[in-house]
Amino acid sequence: MPLVSTKEMFAKAYNGGYAVGAFNVNNMEIVQGITEAAGELKSPVILQVSKGARAYANHTYLVKLVEAAVIENPEIPIALHLDHGDTFELCKSCIDGGFTSVMIDASSKPFDENIALTRKVVEYAHDHGVVVEAELGTLAGVEDEVSVEHGHESYTRPEEVEEFVSRTGCDSLAIAIGTSHGAYKFKASQCTRNADGILVPPPLRFDVLKECIKRLPGFPIVLHGSSSVPQEFVKMVNQYGGNMPDAIGIPEDQLREAAKLAVCKINIDSDIRLAMTGNIRKYFAEHPDHFDPRQYLKPARQAVKDMVAHKIVHVLGSDGKA
Ligand code: G3H
Ligand code: 13P
Ligand code: ZN
Repeated sequence: MPLVSTKEMFAKAYNGGYAVGAFNVNNMEIVQGITEAAGELKSPVILQVSKGARAYANHTYLVKLVEAAVIENPEIPIALHLDHGDTFELCKSCIDGGFTSVMIDASSKPFDENIALTRKVVEYAHDHGVVVEAELGTLAGVEDEVSVEHGHESYTRPEEVEEFVSRTGCDSLAIAIGTSHGAYKFKASQCTRNADGILVPPPLRFDVLKECIKRLPGFPIVLHGSSSVPQEFVKMVNQYGGNMPDAIGIPEDQLREAAKLAVCKINIDSDIRLAMTGNIRKYFAEHPDHFDPRQYLKPARQAVKDMVAHKIVHVLGSDGKA
């Protein structure tokens, strides 16, 4: 099957009470790790490319890597999505260059400007058979060159979502309910600590999510900043020379709960970075004489695959839904 848009994926996910994982990609090992897991578990999957990833790896290389994954995994639907597009020109370039879905993230702009820019992207995208994700509300954390301090994030206002969706014509909506980008999703002062001294984050705002769902029945919702920051990887990083104190993510059970509701797309990037970095650090520590990148990228790719397989089965619930 060729690259697909997310339209049908989301309709099936909405009705089936699961979500599709949207994993950030920027090199071959990451593309392979994700799609090997999805292929073996017969799961739909979204491969997404940020502006920074596109600048790092080059548009053509990334598109061709994803096309290779499509050829290698003919039985599963794979979508290629632009993550956090910030201008019409960037979205247009990805639409013209083979992406099947784009995000226009004008969430930091005033409401009417967000609508105007999103509408412009939607018109161009729909004319070219591409779907559009938009965002209302601001997450904390870091994405590309935009950094939002904790305390300056704002939850999505449910009273705005109907007007936003009807005026923009967007196909899915990312909302802010307490997730955030990166490996440090909460300040220690926002959390409690469990018996092992590990930070326990405040719960996601399911009240905001449910209010949005009530106002947008049948409409796909997206959650950004949804890495769980597995403590096994944080420990591995710290044990082998890294320094990531108090790295903390979104508990898996809360994401599973959201996936059963209208959340059809769950974005994961930081967990991929952690899985690779933890395993590469360990490999270097255990094999100080090795210097062939294939030697340490192999376990890193396997770690991505295992992590994604775990998410598909235990968090997203998308296994067997291809
Ligand atoms: O939301 C942000 C993603 O994790 C992409 O991160 O802009 O550093 O590639 P990046
Ligand atoms: P994480 O930093 O939680 O992985 O979020 C990734 C994301 O939202 C990409 O758009
Ligand atoms: Zn994001």
